[in-house]
Amino acid sequence: MGLFSGRANLVGVDIGSSAIKLVRLRQASGSWELVAFSLGHLPPDAIVEGRVMNFAVVIERLRDVMRESGVKDADCALAISGSSLIIKRLALPEMTRAELDESIVWEAEQYIPFDIKDVNVDAQILNPRAGQGQMDVLMVAAKKDVVNEYVSVAVEAGLKPNVVDVGIFAALNMFEVNYSVPPDQTSALLNVGANSINVGVVSGGAVAFTRDIGVGGAQLTSEIQRHFNVSYEEAEAFKTGAESSLSSSTIAREVNKIADRVCDGMVTEVQRSLDFFVATSVKADIQRIYLTGGSAQLPALIRALERRMEVQVELVNPFRNISVDARRFDIDLLQRAAPVAGVAVGLALRRSGDAS
Ligand SMILES: Nc1ncnc2c1ncn2[C@@H]1O[C@H](COP(=O)(O)OP(=O)(O)OP(=O)(O)O)[C@@H](O)[C@H]1O
Ligand SMILES: [Mg+2]
Repeated sequence: MGLFSGRANLVGVDIGSSAIKLVRLRQASGSWELVAFSLGHLPPDAIVEGRVMNFAVVIERLRDVMRESGVKDADCALAISGSSLIIKRLALPEMTRAELDESIVWEAEQYIPFDIKDVNVDAQILNPRAGQGQMDVLMVAAKKDVVNEYVSVAVEAGLKPNVVDVGIFAALNMFEVNYSVPPDQTSALLNVGANSINVGVVSGGAVAFTRDIGVGGAQLTSEIQRHFNVSYEEAEAFKTGAESSLSSSTIAREVNKIADRVCDGMVTEVQRSLDFFVATSVKADIQRIYLTGGSAQLPALIRALERRMEVQVELVNPFRNISVDARRFDIDLLQRAAPVAGVAVGLALRRSGDAS
């Protein structure tokens, strides 16, 4: 065994409602290197409200993505998010990991609106040396049937799911590897996807708050579709080219107007969540907002966030501290796809045997 062999890295597979993202990393001499990244788009009805509706399509697309990146029967890390998850920060009496594992289900029961038999419960100790006989614990409960949907897609495609992470936790892991935030800063990370915004707040170096909001950039696509009476594909093209190739046309002006309105609505939801965090926490004010996810590229969203939240907003580069071999990857293409890779990079940082 070599000095750095350790446990193998998992392949990160982020199955989103608009696209599957696969990332493989390698760690050599303590630094990370990108081994594979590929992306496969999904039709809008394959995954709806976080539930897999069309297994055949999702499995086939996952196989395409695996083929493209040369991944066969690898161990992988998956992510779930949305209303099938309950995440709660609990203050518990200080106890050992083994004691926590034994008692967490009982602790969790009072916060879970589903039958306890239908959920997987896990816990992470946030500050084990808090003193005063107490410790903060992050409890995560996930509905088994939803976890099983994603696991069975991966298994059917030939993968071996090893870890099931929470989407926003994976994004926060990716963020931590790439950015060093002063420990006294309170910042929010938003993963803005097609049909959801995962919100995470980090304060004092620990996760202080999470929330999943059921809106995203797909709402803009469907409003553009309706307004211009065009196909989904055309509406996507209008949306992503809104401020460049279309910039001189009347269409661009109308697209921008719709984008401003839709993004304003998205920011209202984000603001509601962050206001709730601020109102219920000791450490007030969000000092900075970081963005990842495909819809984080919407200029109208960034503008609305800056205006309404009155803080600096920054688009995260998930490959900032990950070396990329220019002979293996088209750097331009990779940088353009980087926003959608946030969660998948976070998943690819996980090791086999990690607690899920
Ligand atoms: N350049 C761009 N400008 C604006 N929007 C973009 C751009 N590129 C991609 N998008 C949008 O980003 C979304 C895809 O992002 P992402 O892959 O993060 O979502 P997802 O993970 O599939 O969705 P979810 O997590 O909500 O299920 C799509 O709605 C797509 O239209
Ligand atoms: Mg996503």
